[in-house]
Parts: sequence; structure tokens; C-alpha cells
Amino acid sequence: MNTYVSRASSEQLRTAKELIKQGETVAFHTETVYGLGANAFDDDAVQKIFALKGRPADNPLIVHVHKRYDISRLIDRDPPYCAALRSAFLPGPLTMVYPSTGKVSRFVSCGLDTLAIRVPKSDTAQAFLRAVDLPIAAPSANLSKHVSPVTAWHVFDDFKGKIPLILDGGPSDGGIESTVLDCTGDVPQILREGLVTREMIASVAGACGIYVPAEGEPPRSPGMAYKHYAPRCETFYCTDPETALARYRKEKAKKGKPRILCASKHAETLPPDIAVLDLGDTPELMAHRLYDLLRKGETEGTTLLIGIEPEEKDGIMAGVLNRFRRAFGVLS
Ligand code: TXA
Ligand code: MG
Repeated sequence: MNTYVSRASSEQLRTAKELIKQGETVAFHTETVYGLGANAFDDDAVQKIFALKGRPADNPLIVHVHKRYDISRLIDRDPPYCAALRSAFLPGPLTMVYPSTGKVSRFVSCGLDTLAIRVPKSDTAQAFLRAVDLPIAAPSANLSKHVSPVTAWHVFDDFKGKIPLILDGGPSDGGIESTVLDCTGDVPQILREGLVTREMIASVAGACGIYVPAEGEPPRSPGMAYKHYAPRCETFYCTDPETALARYRKEKAKKGKPRILCASKHAETLPPDIAVLDLGDTPELMAHRLYDLLRKGETEGTTLLIGIEPEEKDGIMAGVLNRFRRAFGVLS
């Protein structure tokens, strides 16, 4: 199969619609990361996503809809705080988990009685979703466990020859996946941190919890149980530039090709001969650059990727740090 990478012209949108109707998958730009989409009503198409990614069968998918799509047929109950959250944050990087009517394929939510719905902001995603006018089940468009894709070429690297079309909308601005928010209880609870923070949600909904699975309990967002975002080279994690530098020199002495991934603040303290992948100096920049630099790190012949933990921890840094630590295997 040929894999076409194309902007969302009206001709390509017609092709995308045809492909989705035929039960094919189409990858598309969103403002967080690229998604790999299929018709959420089509059992075979949804299962194709799991097969293509090598995704565990118990990790549910998010359904994507355009901003005028009537979600009332998909959700069984609309808790009172949800309308305010939708008008404050959608379209945007917030996924809301509702009680489901069970109308979409049972493979979407993997047997859960809930459904995760997202209304992406990206013009490319909106144009695609409007063209198909169907709920599109879509995980991030990377092979399972690999780093999430923030350009069309990242998707191409993982799926060339395996999917027919990638709708290219340029680099994803946000850079980390949406916040996943459980909206089935009296108080919304964050299942996965992202660019819409707990403080932002609480300011609209009155309160917001962060879900932490109890010891031995299966996580409510099954995706969080799996290793994620792993670059394909050896990694080393530390919290200060001195430790990073010592490990770097050791790798160099072995004729290896190390790289250090860190915030500008740490990069500036390292000697000029050190190969640094600079995440930048604001939480927004760090979110935007993280996955791109993790992929760069692994494609430059790097033998060892060294990460220095950024010092900031609050707001959107909570989401960035979560991905950063997972990529280095510090969080499982
Ligand atoms: O930004 C994003 O959310 C991207 C773009 C493509 O929209 N999508 C994405 O999908 O990150 P994925 O499949 O890589 O991650 C979806 C997460 C997983 O952790 C999954 O377990 C959780 O959402 N999830 C999906 N449906 C759920 C449900 N019904 N209840 C709880 N968690 C759910
Ligand atoms: Mg993913």
C-alpha cells in the first residue's frame, strides 16, 4: 500500500471520507499529537487500529467529533458541570469521559460503560471530522509504546506502507496528548494530565480531582498502565547537570554517541562541546518540543539519551513531566 502525506485540500478530504466509509484508517493532524482514525461505528475498522499499532486490547480509544456534532446520541448522561467545561475548553486539548449509550463499536471502549470524547481544535482535524460527519475513534498515530507523533513524518516513519493517507497540518502546537477527564462522578477527575490543567478545570467546574489508582486496583484509564513514549536507544535519567555530564563523558570514553535532553536553564550550565537537545525555557515550549526531540534523539545514531528532570513542576509542567519520566522509564 502507498502512504500519501497531504494537506487537507478538498480533494484529499473527499478521499479521506471515502477511505473512512470503506473501513480504512486515516491519520490526521490535531493540536496535541497526530491521531490514527477510523469510523467508531465500524467494528472491523476499529479493530484495524489496534492491529496496526500493536495496541493492547484493553486500552480504550478516544472518539473525535467536529464542533457541531450532536454528542447526545453517544452519551447516556451529561453531568451538570460538563456544559460549562465544554464551553470553556472545547474545541481544545480536553477529552471528557461520559457514561456511554453503547452506540459506537464495543471495541472503542474495550468493554467499559464509558466513552471518551474529544473535540480537537486543529483546522485540519475539524475539516476532516466535518467531511466524514462521523465519530472517529483515534489513538495517537504511533506504534504502541513508541514516542507520540507531532509531525506527519513521525506518523510516516511508524506506518509507511501500512495506512493509505496522512492529513498533514504541520507540527502539532501543543505537543503532548489531551487531558483526559473522568466526567462520570459528582466531581470531575483527571485520568491523564495535559495542557488543560487541574486549576483551569477547577476554576470552571468548582472542583477537580486527580485520579490515583489504589494499590492493586486496575487503573480507570487503562492506558496509564502501559510503558509509553519510549525512545529506541538506551536512556539514563537524573535530576542535575553534574550527574548528566559525568554519564555523558563515560559514554564518550566508550566511543558512544550520547545526547542530553534538558531545559535551557540546565543546558546553559553545560560546557559548549556537549551535544544537547534543548527543550526550551517555558512549560509551553517544553511540551511542544518534547516528542520531537525524543524522536530526534533516537534517529541521530544516539547510543545513550540522558534526561535531566526540569525544575518546574506545576501547571502544564505536571503533564510534561509525566511524559518525560515515562519516556525514561522512571514512571511505569
Ligand atoms: O491528544 C490526544 O488525546 C490524542 C489525539 C490523537 O487526540 N489521542 C491520544 O489517544 O492520546 P491515546 O489512545 O494515545 O490515549 C488515550 C487515553 C488512554 O490512556 C486511554 O486509556 C484513555 O485515553 N481512555 C480512552 N477511553 C477511555 C475511557 N472510556 N475511560 C477511561 N480512559 C479512557
Ligand atoms: Mg498514545
